[in-house]
Amino acid sequence: MKDHRRRFLRILWSALVLYEILNVLFILLLRSRGPAPLGEGVQLFSLFSMLLPLWLILSFRDVLPRVRIFSQTFFLWYFALGSFWIGAGLGALVPVVKTLLSGEGRSARGGALPADYSLWALQGGGFLTLLLLVSALGARFLPPRLIRLTLSFEGLDPRLDGLTVLHLSDLHVGAWQGEGRLRTIAEFVKRTAPDILAITGDVIDHREEEAGIFERIFAPLSGNLGTVAVLGNHEYWTLGKESCAVMRRHGFPVLKNESRLLETGTGGKVRVVGVDDPAGAECAPDCGPNVERALTEVRPDEFVLALVHQPTLWEGPLCRKAHLTLAGHTHGGQIGGHPPLPSLASLFFRFPVGLFSSPDPHCRGHRLHVSAGLGYYGIPVRVGMIPEMTLMTLRAGSGEKSGEK
Ligand SMILES: [Fe+2]
Repeated sequence: MKDHRRRFLRILWSALVLYEILNVLFILLLRSRGPAPLGEGVQLFSLFSMLLPLWLILSFRDVLPRVRIFSQTFFLWYFALGSFWIGAGLGALVPVVKTLLSGEGRSARGGALPADYSLWALQGGGFLTLLLLVSALGARFLPPRLIRLTLSFEGLDPRLDGLTVLHLSDLHVGAWQGEGRLRTIAEFVKRTAPDILAITGDVIDHREEEAGIFERIFAPLSGNLGTVAVLGNHEYWTLGKESCAVMRRHGFPVLKNESRLLETGTGGKVRVVGVDDPAGAECAPDCGPNVERALTEVRPDEFVLALVHQPTLWEGPLCRKAHLTLAGHTHGGQIGGHPPLPSLASLFFRFPVGLFSSPDPHCRGHRLHVSAGLGYYGIPVRVGMIPEMTLMTLRAGSGEKSGEK
């Protein structure tokens, strides 16, 4: 098993064991307190909660073909419950803080809680649950967000002025993404009619059959000049060293440490460079990133569009040679917003989501775009970080504009 995956599973299993221990402790605590209003119900609920690992195993091992549908409901239930407890905890703090601030803290220190404690907890729980549920369900069922960016590059060949690139990432076909949803995304791509369709990995999630679903829905789509793509860690985790061959057979035009020249009708040239994913290095010696090799054919007068799955590959030679680099992988953490708003991804990634410039003087004017992607990983929930695709229009000059549809 690959190192990354082993590490992830170790963390997941540790979290689940901790979760089970907390549930047991909670039930024991309730029992030691004797009869209490709703006490039996809460104990029963905690026992039910202990089934979570079973649902996880059933859904990810595909033991029962339709169990995935129930898993989604189950996850949503947990999400709502978690939101309620967090909201209730925050709400309950309000009267406690108010009591302490008003100088009536003696009773609180003596162990008694303010009289309106339960009401605040209930209101806080209800409010946060409603807010997060509406946000999560909206992200799931409303159409994906189409972000429009106008990017200017000094010295851009006038024949490339107005060229459009549609950036798709992290579809995670199959995992929490029904075919109906995928067809909606495909319709969006068709309507957008970009010059270049660029896909930055994690097309499948964890089964080879998902490559077939991708092929049925997305392989017939193309940019006017072509479609270009790189593999993500999920392709390597699922298909191993055969990833590139299998995905190409399914109509996924992979660039593996190589480049392709796309030409407009007027003779404008775009050199598209694809760098392989670091997860490949764990599968075979000829897989994994090789930036130098990918850049071999780049000529000084060409506009260079680079594709990577993980944005960390941007720094160094790639940033210096590529005018625009596209990446995914982070999902924006699935919670939060684009900068200046914080996101969960900003805790873990240097380039979490959105558009970046580099302080390196050799990269002046060059940009990195990290997409929040369209799919889900881990939990089938997005709050604030709506599934997105980005349409970039290249312009000669300086500055940038953004818009949304
Ligand atoms: Fe992903």
